[in-house]
Amino acid sequence: MKELIAQGAESVILKIKRWNQYFVLKWRQSKPYLSKDIDSQLRKTRTSRECKMLSVARSLGVPTPAVYAVNLDDYTILMDYIEGVQFKQLVNTLPENQLKEFCLEFGRSIALLHKGDVVHGDPTTSNLIVDSKSRLWLVDFGLSEMNATVEMKGVDLHLIYRALETTHWELQESMLEDTIKGYSDFLGKEAKDILSRMEEIRERGRYH
Ligand SMILES: Nc1ncnc2c1ncn2[C@@H]1O[C@H](COP(=O)(O)OP(=O)(O)OP(=O)(O)O)[C@@H](O)[C@H]1O
Ligand SMILES: [Mg+2]
Repeated sequence: MKELIAQGAESVILKIKRWNQYFVLKWRQSKPYLSKDIDSQLRKTRTSRECKMLSVARSLGVPTPAVYAVNLDDYTILMDYIEGVQFKQLVNTLPENQLKEFCLEFGRSIALLHKGDVVHGDPTTSNLIVDSKSRLWLVDFGLSEMNATVEMKGVDLHLIYRALETTHWELQESMLEDTIKGYSDFLGKEAKDILSRMEEIRERGRYH
């Protein structure tokens, strides 16, 4: 049994059944506009990076799918299937207090990563899955990095800002506020420099 559950810009997400259990097979497709060598290199790097960073994030306490296998010759990762709905699709259906809780949790998860000097790289609401127990899972670690600097963390927060701004414009203010609250409450004093760097990055973007 194989079921296509998502087809992104870069990859195909298949739900498969093995050992009487569901898994996700994430397969990075080729990009026809890239040369063969660059295309293969990029798919390889992103696949191995994602495999590694899913586990690193998990070890930092962030809910991510466990990885069972990786194949760098066909650019695939076999991981847990998370039964749930993209946070992006839930946002407009949630009561205010629940939306707030999820945003606080989103901020906390990003803070857990940053505390471990890891950035997600693509922290959008479509890379968050809410399961039936209201647990928030983080996916899509192909752009994630270790040994992150304050600048890289500031960029990560800026990307959240941008994602909320473009996808949830009518709720962006409260969502951003709650996400930043979850982030700062968890990180404490450490958050200060990163938040001011985020502001700085926003200003830079405004005048260039
Ligand atoms: N392990 C999983 N379990 C359930 N659903 C998943 C899982 N992984 C991904 N998905 C779903 O598939 C969608 C696309 O996956 P993902 O974000 O990893 O790929 P993508 O956006 O194409 O990634 P990339 O930016 O690396 O190309 C996710 O938004 C999520 O809804
Ligand atoms: Mg994605």
